[in-house]
Amino acid sequence: MSAISFPHDDILVPVKLGDRSYQILIPNDSSQQSVGAFARSRNPSGLAFVVADRGATAHLEPLKNSLLQAGYRVECTILAPGEGQKSLSQAAALYEKLLDLKADRKTLLVALGGGVTGDLTGFVAATYLRGLPFLMIPTTLLSMVDSSVGGKTGVNLSRGKNLVGCFHQPIGVWIDMKTLATLPDREYRSGLAEVIKYGMIMDAPFFATLETNVPGLLARDPGLLRMVVARCCELKADVVSKDEREETGLRAILNYGHTFAHAFEAVAGYGAWLHGEAVAAGMQAAARLALARGLIANDIVERQSRLLSAFGLPVDRDQKWHVDTMIDIMRSDKKAAAGQLRFILPVSLGVVRLFADVTVDEVTAAMAKKGS
Ligand SMILES: NC(=O)c1ccc[n+]([C@@H]2O[C@H](COP(=O)([O-])OP(=O)(O)OC[C@H]3O[C@@H](n4cnc5c(N)ncnc54)[C@H](O)[C@@H]3O)[C@@H](O)[C@H]2O)c1
Ligand SMILES: [Zn+2]
Repeated sequence: MSAISFPHDDILVPVKLGDRSYQILIPNDSSQQSVGAFARSRNPSGLAFVVADRGATAHLEPLKNSLLQAGYRVECTILAPGEGQKSLSQAAALYEKLLDLKADRKTLLVALGGGVTGDLTGFVAATYLRGLPFLMIPTTLLSMVDSSVGGKTGVNLSRGKNLVGCFHQPIGVWIDMKTLATLPDREYRSGLAEVIKYGMIMDAPFFATLETNVPGLLARDPGLLRMVVARCCELKADVVSKDEREETGLRAILNYGHTFAHAFEAVAGYGAWLHGEAVAAGMQAAARLALARGLIANDIVERQSRLLSAFGLPVDRDQKWHVDTMIDIMRSDKKAAAGQLRFILPVSLGVVRLFADVTVDEVTAAMAKKGS
């Protein structure tokens, strides 16, 4: 998709997972479809229980009305924002609400919010009465391009993120670009890091499209964003449909930049750096490592750096952070095999491979250099 086109129709992205297949619908502004009808055509329940992030409440009334029009009785609960909501105690509070509402196995759970709301609601949907249908309405750029595809749900434990969870595919995903209008700038730009990631790992022409559309992306042009989000969903759906449960290793390519990023997030203190910011600096460290190995030319490292910088994303870690601490964190990363450092590295623009033979010296050098 080097020449980006702006279809006026709704965009439908299929996620092909056999009998767990579902569709992501990205309606256009004047769509004939409504979220209520979209839900109704996939779920016969009388009750819809909406779990909404407080940050996304501006989008709650239209959702409720649409579900009501589709014949649902609608009940809502509002979550305080933040990663802290992804907890077993919060899941238990939602189970209690479902009991009070006399929810049955057809009751539709609806997540309105970012990845936190989606992961928590999905986890509750997966586990209450051994599984309820669940509709996702992601309202952050990151959740639109990442957590809405693939069915990973979960909560955190005090000793680590996403340690309890399961795969539970939604019945559908509804992505309304209008919800992005209220998203804070820093959150929006953080989501763009994951967008750039898809270009780097799977699609060189898409990367080039991003390079030529920086002003439109910064302006949150809805037509452009619909295409960009759809392409990211398609790319992730392709990976997920071939490796739903991270068994073949293919799904690991989505972790490009993430081994570094998880260490950066941890040393910065959770919350100090947004996930996408850490991913940006992490991808840049991974690209430098690939350059030092002779896997790619400097031109690719610089193009990635320029694009990240154009969106105000960091391309360097904070040099005050201790390298040894970060290496220890990387070794204990749940994606590391028995302490062995494993990295997804670019071998050309749009192509990455897993390397399990990376040395501590290489990692240290990749984190030491500044800029591109
Ligand atoms: N399941 C997966 O495959 C997967 C993939 C990636 C990330 N995740 C998870 O997603 C979470 C991060 O998701 P996130 O970045 O969306 O963060 P988030 O859900 O915490 O949302 C970020 C912030 O944006 C606010 N917000 C959400 N939508 C808004 C809107 N439309 N307008 C204004 N404010 C809004 C929220 O209140 C919050 O303060 C992490 O817990 C991560 O583990 C899961
Ligand atoms: Zn990520």
